[in-house]
Amino acid sequence: MKLLHGGDYFPEQWQTQPETIKEDFAYFKQANINTVTVGMFAWSILEPEEDHFNFAWLDQVFDLAEENGIKVILGTPSGARPNWLASKYPDVLRVNSRLERNLFGGRHNHCFTSVNYRERVRIVNEKLAERYGQRESLLMWHLSNEYSGECHCEQCQSAFRHWIQEKYGTLEAVNQAYWNTFWSHTYTDWQQIHSPTEVGEMAVHALNLDWRRFVTDQTIDFYLHEKAALQRYSDDVPVTTNFMADTEHLIPFQALDYSKFSQVVDVVTWDCYPAWHNDWESEANLALKVGFINDLYRSLKEQPFLIMESSPSFVNWHDVNRPKRPGMHQLASMQLLAHGSDSVLYFQMRASKGSSEKFHGSVIGHVPPERNRVYQEVATLGQRMAELDGLVGSMKQSEVAVYYDWENDWALQDIQGFSKTGMHYHRTLHDHYRPFWQQDVNVDVITKNNAFEGYKLLIMPMVYLHSEDLLEKIQTFVKSGGTVVYTYLSGMANETDLVYEGGTLAGLQDLLGVIINETDVYYPSQTNQLLLGDATYQVHDYATVFERTSAEAIAYYGSDFYQGEAAVSVNYYGDGQAYFIGARTGDDFLATFYTDLLEQLNISSNSLTKSSQDVLVQTREAIDGTVYYFAMNFSNQLQSVDLSPNLVDVSTGQEVETSLDLQAFEVKVLISKT
Ligand code: GLA
Ligand code: ZN
Repeated sequence: MKLLHGGDYFPEQWQTQPETIKEDFAYFKQANINTVTVGMFAWSILEPEEDHFNFAWLDQVFDLAEENGIKVILGTPSGARPNWLASKYPDVLRVNSRLERNLFGGRHNHCFTSVNYRERVRIVNEKLAERYGQRESLLMWHLSNEYSGECHCEQCQSAFRHWIQEKYGTLEAVNQAYWNTFWSHTYTDWQQIHSPTEVGEMAVHALNLDWRRFVTDQTIDFYLHEKAALQRYSDDVPVTTNFMADTEHLIPFQALDYSKFSQVVDVVTWDCYPAWHNDWESEANLALKVGFINDLYRSLKEQPFLIMESSPSFVNWHDVNRPKRPGMHQLASMQLLAHGSDSVLYFQMRASKGSSEKFHGSVIGHVPPERNRVYQEVATLGQRMAELDGLVGSMKQSEVAVYYDWENDWALQDIQGFSKTGMHYHRTLHDHYRPFWQQDVNVDVITKNNAFEGYKLLIMPMVYLHSEDLLEKIQTFVKSGGTVVYTYLSGMANETDLVYEGGTLAGLQDLLGVIINETDVYYPSQTNQLLLGDATYQVHDYATVFERTSAEAIAYYGSDFYQGEAAVSVNYYGDGQAYFIGARTGDDFLATFYTDLLEQLNISSNSLTKSSQDVLVQTREAIDGTVYYFAMNFSNQLQSVDLSPNLVDVSTGQEVETSLDLQAFEVKVLISKT
């Protein structure tokens, strides 16, 4: 098995220049490219007229790939429909949230419910499977592209009503779950149910949640429909689709619940585009966000994932699209491997000549490879990746988990109250991840679908929407010896965003050994203090005022009407312990707090000492026990790190001294046998 190196390739754009395609494959080979992903967005050449198919160009791509020992990931074309299709079947186009039907244009502009769209997709997918399903070089199916978006057409409305009916059974149950007597919103007929739109209703939080759940389910249903169309001719090839991030902030993609979607893909794959060398944060801080999201996407299926797209240098959709500095491509790509990817795939293999993505980074750019730094960097990475095939299938071993939940995220976004501007769920997640990241402790970022057993420490930041089922899992985890940490704004609402009577889920208060009476909120310039032993830390945004039933206080508030009361507490529960951090603090307190816990729980680090926190060490462990250490320097200066003895540098085959030097943006991979 090999690590995959390659990516999205669009030979359909070069049909008038067949020589170019041949040359490309020669360049691919030289750069140790072993995989190309083709077919996404090629519908108008695959089926230029309804039911007339043209495969000659794609046959040639498969031939060339096979001649060059390259594998093919085959995309289905539903991400962008051809003009003729939209003209003949206008209902395939989306209706937006102002209830206007879109014109033909862009991509990802189709209704997932449309009977016509589903039928045309079924036909083209089946044709592709019939022709290529058994090709030796076919590695994987890549369904559509970055499924996303929603449609408010009549077919979608009716599917949504049906979904609600299935879920609740009666209108009374819906009205109760939605708290519909508020503002006289009681439904008296199923037909009155409508998707949330800016021209209608957007303030019924349970409706918003259900709509987002429905959009996820409908997208999954469309994915399964696409997949079913392949099965007759190709049921033994893995099937996937490429997940995304919210690109602006490099946080989990917001519009779909991937904890659910991941259950139907054979392997999680995703498109990772950090804005390296930006002017608002350090490389190390951006690397932390990259680490966090990869730790989440890996944990979705608890198996290695694939980076389906990344840029070999710059993208084209930031305000400023900066090329990667020398060395950064290796470092950034190796970080993805370090967190569990079995690939570095790119968008794109060759830059387009026209239209909006012509200035997006590519392996083969407008400047020829011989004098193109990007191509050279890709080739160097290709060489290094070829030394790492033993990594394929290996996993991270983590004793610490941070909890994330899409539904909770959606509910927090809807909250009207507390500090709207100071909500910062993702910043808080990162803040609770940082102490481990900086101390080179592996972390899994898990969801409610993961098993909690096996972790020593589970961190639950801002789990506002908190089901009874989740509570049960946590109780079991703590009873059998686990340590859990909760924060402010936890356990307040159930799955339809109805507030628990008493203000907080009773069982959670029992677990924490506290009774929560109030959540105080600060304007940005206001603060309180958290007193821990002799140290004083700053509190901002949120401070929970609570009484202790069985919990012990660890830290206290320094001022305000609850001065002297507990701010942080611990409760011993079964064989485990449940911490409650009642107030939002800075990194200083969290570093102290979690460092103590690491020691108390005997959780080990991947490094001994290091010259800077811009140096990070992550590990993966192969089935044969080999541990891969990725020592990464995210600073632009020489750094050093001390690792455990007897490690061997993969590139040189030499045993290394305990202390390792890393040049600016350098990454070294070392192995040990355990
Ligand atoms: C996404 C898409 C690609 C391309 C890239 C550009 O990830 O899937 O088709 O548009 O963005 O960054
Ligand atoms: Zn629709």
